[in-house]
Amino acid sequence: MSKDTLSVTDNRTGRSYELPVSEGTIRAMDLRQIKTSDDDFGLMTYDPAFMNTASCRSAITFIDGERGILRYRGYPIEQLAERASFLEVSYLLIHGELPTREELDRWIEEVRYHTYVHTNITKFLEGFRYDAHPMGMLLGAVGALSTFYPDAKHIHDPANRHLQMVRLLAKLPTIAAFAFRHSRGLPFVFPDNGLDYIGNYVNMTFSIGGRHQPNKVLQRALEILLILHADHEQNCSTSAVRSVGSSHVDPFSAVSAGIAALYGPLHGGANEAVLLMLDEIGEKKNIPAFIETVKQGSDRLMGFGHRVYKSYDPRATLVKKVAYEVFEQTGLNPKLEIALELERIALEDEYFIKRKLYPNVDFYSGLIYQAMGYPTDYFTVLFAIGRTPGWLAQWQEMLLDKDQKISRPRQIYIGEGKREFVPIERR
Ligand code: CMC
Repeated sequence: MSKDTLSVTDNRTGRSYELPVSEGTIRAMDLRQIKTSDDDFGLMTYDPAFMNTASCRSAITFIDGERGILRYRGYPIEQLAERASFLEVSYLLIHGELPTREELDRWIEEVRYHTYVHTNITKFLEGFRYDAHPMGMLLGAVGALSTFYPDAKHIHDPANRHLQMVRLLAKLPTIAAFAFRHSRGLPFVFPDNGLDYIGNYVNMTFSIGGRHQPNKVLQRALEILLILHADHEQNCSTSAVRSVGSSHVDPFSAVSAGIAALYGPLHGGANEAVLLMLDEIGEKKNIPAFIETVKQGSDRLMGFGHRVYKSYDPRATLVKKVAYEVFEQTGLNPKLEIALELERIALEDEYFIKRKLYPNVDFYSGLIYQAMGYPTDYFTVLFAIGRTPGWLAQWQEMLLDKDQKISRPRQIYIGEGKREFVPIERR
């Protein structure tokens, strides 16, 4: 008869245990009872990089990596990308349901009200070097926001949490735009609250001597990209936000940890790395030689592969579609040809097929950002704007989850045993 349990026999002692299985999972703490003696600590699992460990139960994002499915709160990503606005998706992620017209209008107004930042923020942004990486500026400035809003430490007050989440959603594009202007030596443009979320951000970024003339196709394309990046369950940056947030620090500090994690080339920094890779390849004729260096392990095909997706990343399919819409407006990005050829060759190559390596969300997004006029080192900032509602939704879910405590993994100590201190002259 089938039972929702796992029987374990410890061959060290001959003892047997029956562990409950729930939601396809055993509780790691249930292993602790498996001991060789009374003073044994108990059995642990060793899982570097969390390859097979669920750190939480979550109702936000569903991914089926084998079948290439991504849903936010149950809604397929394809439908949200086609029909929703970014703030609507943000509301959905944070509140769990799509907003009514009234709720959405109120949400949009709240966010609009908080787009301004304290002018002192402009002062320390000015202190960054002219060539400071925009992700470094962003993570520093978002962390610093906690000093402007000391009330943000009241994380157990739902109204306060709501206010800080609105502030983060509202101010991140403003700071991101300021970082862009700083890199170019352009004066900061403050929010124009007559514009919508995306229009305002684009205006703060690109306007020169008057309102930026909007291209609605490009703005919608940017909005779709933000929606596609809005959440992706327990990825590296989200785990960072949850882990740092589990210390009960304020959300500005927790989100700045997420931005730091996203900065890395294996995570959000991959969109920047893809463009650098395409530049390095230079011409189609150099692709086979490049693929060889990847197969020999001295390079990675950036924008390919994913810890969870083992078939085409559904976001990449949508990004590729958006790319063509954008290029109709901006003219073809000449690097597209190299990217397409790279993809074609990789998808036919045994190395990539065997390892189930397909283009991920970052493979084509950089080409779009470049065509829109963003510099390469700025791409990950756009990812961060998109991911902010996901970080916030996950942060709040973590705080409200009775199972959660301060995040604190175990280790297997492999260092020296006890030894006596050796004075410096005898070493
Ligand atoms: N190019 C060449 N080989 C690769 C690649 C790649 N992009 N990705 C994985 N592999 C190989 C890897 O060398 C290993 O081969 P072997 O079994 O012979 O040692 C095998 O595939 C499994 O790779 P892994 O490193 O164990 O896989 P992972 O789940 O730890 O890494 C990843 C996932 C996304 C970090 C990795 O695929 C990668 O580095 N990709 C390039 C960077 C990238 O595009 N990152 C963006 C991810 S999507 C957006 C985001 O999360 O921000």
